[in-house]
Amino acid sequence: MHDMTAKPASSIRSLENQKNHRRFPTTAWMRREAPRHVPRFAYEYGDTGAGNDVGIADNWSAFDAVKIVPRYGVMPSLPPVEVELFGTKYAAPIGIAPMGGPSLVWPGADLLMAKAAQRARVPYTLSVAGGATIEDAAAAAPDVFWLQLYRFWHEDHKIGFDLVRRAQAVNVKVLTLTLDVPVRTTRSRETYAGLAGEFRPTPRMIYEMMIRPRWLWALLRKGYPRFATISQYANSTNTNEVIKYARQRMGGAFSWEEVARYRDAWKGPMTVKGILHPADAEKAVSLGIEGIWMSNHGGRQIEALMPSIDCLPGVAAAVGKKATILLDSGIRSGQDVMRALALGADACFAGKSFLWATAALGDAGPDQLIALYIDELRASLGQIGALSPAEARNATIRHPGKIEF
Ligand SMILES: Cc1cc2nc3c(=O)[nH]c(=O)nc-3n(C[C@H](O)[C@H](O)[C@H](O)COP(=O)(O)O)c2cc1C
Repeated sequence: MHDMTAKPASSIRSLENQKNHRRFPTTAWMRREAPRHVPRFAYEYGDTGAGNDVGIADNWSAFDAVKIVPRYGVMPSLPPVEVELFGTKYAAPIGIAPMGGPSLVWPGADLLMAKAAQRARVPYTLSVAGGATIEDAAAAAPDVFWLQLYRFWHEDHKIGFDLVRRAQAVNVKVLTLTLDVPVRTTRSRETYAGLAGEFRPTPRMIYEMMIRPRWLWALLRKGYPRFATISQYANSTNTNEVIKYARQRMGGAFSWEEVARYRDAWKGPMTVKGILHPADAEKAVSLGIEGIWMSNHGGRQIEALMPSIDCLPGVAAAVGKKATILLDSGIRSGQDVMRALALGADACFAGKSFLWATAALGDAGPDQLIALYIDELRASLGQIGALSPAEARNATIRHPGKIEF
């Protein structure tokens, strides 16, 4: 007989979400809680910026400084936030940014994020330095799966073009080339935590793992952090072997000539990530790139890079009519997403906050954070009187950090 008391999975999830929401009403609460549940080195890896973290602080304060004058009397209820990006409909203009090594922060994090994004129908981007294979991530997130590549230059981009082939075979929605890592820089907290090179747990790191039973349990269930996306090329599943192999074959930033070659090889929509200057955005568009992904790598490259939100009006003025504009670096709330939409972005992505959420809440973290971002975005748009994400652009804005190019 049908059990009338049994709740459908989605309603159980939403009750769980409400409970978690009371515990973590904002991402700041998740970040505060995160270090209590994962080894210190893992938290530092996910949370660190370049140098002394000034770039991260600047990204946050640049968002905080953007203020909006609301309009009232137009909004009967919360506005819808669905958007279409590159021909696919998504539940909201907020996605998960590509991250290498998230399974160090929480074992199995790549697929947890992929599945949560699929459930919520928001974009999920696997990093080429991720912990899941392209094929597994595609199976977990078939309708929302994006892939990001770094520059595998060895043997005339043999691995790079093979990754493009694999992406094509599993119907990746959008391919992204990251341009903003021309050099490897120092992240002081990562270095201090003992993670600057290969992964060799020191006695201190082992101690840090032993005192985090929830993380250890996840490790037992999901396995050791691996660079699964590329491990088949190294012919090894050993993390350090794969790191060594990749470092010999990968590095530098894509040149425009290389971008053009990938543009030719890839048959779907494509974005370049890390753009801050309008002239670079125009160059990319002239090569047939459909999406400009603005980013300063979340403050993880050098501290002196301009916050992406402050460069957004210039890039939007240059290419906003010809390309889709995506933006990350410093997003911590639905209000931040609204600010970026108001200044000309079509969608936003978040990195670190997904790691805080997963560290703080375990497997439920990514679902919870997506729900939080969507709820906050709807409330924020409702508050300023925007009837849709696109209407946020009509807002009157104070933006003291805006760069004149
Ligand atoms: C742990 C970690 C690993 C990252 N790895 C990559 C990567 O492999 N490829 C990439 O393009 N960006 C990478 N990024 C940058 C993110 O895609 C994104 O640009 C940044 O995190 C956004 O800023 P936010 O953290 O303030 O949200 C990484 C970020 C973090 C936190």
